[in-house]
Amino acid sequence: MRTTLLTLLGLAATALAGPGSYCLTDSDAQRVANNFGQTIENYSDALADRVLTQDFTDYSDSVNELINNGCPNGPQPLGSATFTSLADFKAGQGAQPSIPFQILNVWHNCDTVTLRWRSSNPGTVQPEQQVTGIIVLETCFVGGQEPWLIDTVYSEFNSGAWLYDLGVFQPTCNATSAKFFKRGISWRPNML
Ligand SMILES: *[C@@H]1O[C@H](CO)[C@@H](O)[C@H](O)[C@H]1NC(C)=O
Ligand SMILES: *[C@@H]1O[C@H](CO)[C@@H](O)[C@H](O)[C@H]1NC(C)=O
Repeated sequence: MRTTLLTLLGLAATALAGPGSYCLTDSDAQRVANNFGQTIENYSDALADRVLTQDFTDYSDSVNELINNGCPNGPQPLGSATFTSLADFKAGQGAQPSIPFQILNVWHNCDTVTLRWRSSNPGTVQPEQQVTGIIVLETCFVGGQEPWLIDTVYSEFNSGAWLYDLGVFQPTCNATSAKFFKRGISWRPNML
């Protein structure tokens, strides 16, 4: 009992100790998730300035793959950061069309928000395959009107479906491949 009380007092002291020790609430996390969604669906430079840190960094091999058009020797090597600063994000994302961003789930701990989302491809040239993704958003507490800024993003989504929707990726679709994929025998089409 005594130990529990001391632990609780210790936690309370930590929570009051300073900005670095604040913890995201459910509504803070929802706000952070919505803010990021807005940068995809309703982008503006003012929004990016308000909700992202100056040294914002975004890692997404899914986006790198799209930038490379699926080519192995493209300009954006897999594993490299897609955007390495706020200015870089604004130049890249600011040039994109609005992309529908539907939030399906939000989870969080004290400083990180994880969300699951779905999109439809505005550039689709054929009956569309849905695109679902998962994003981890690391945040910084700064207080004020917009207390949690997004600092680092790890984002992956079904870029295979995205490239299909754009007509860049043209799969070989026949009964044999469908059957083998359903049985989960191989991820590698060339083994079918
Ligand atoms: C973008 O703005 C529209 C219109 O205000 C809104 O309905 C939609 O939820 C916004 N998108 C996101 C991801 O917040
Ligand atoms: C089905 O796909 C496989 C693998 O791409 C190919 O070798 C085969 O010729 C295809 N069959 C038909 C009937 O198109």
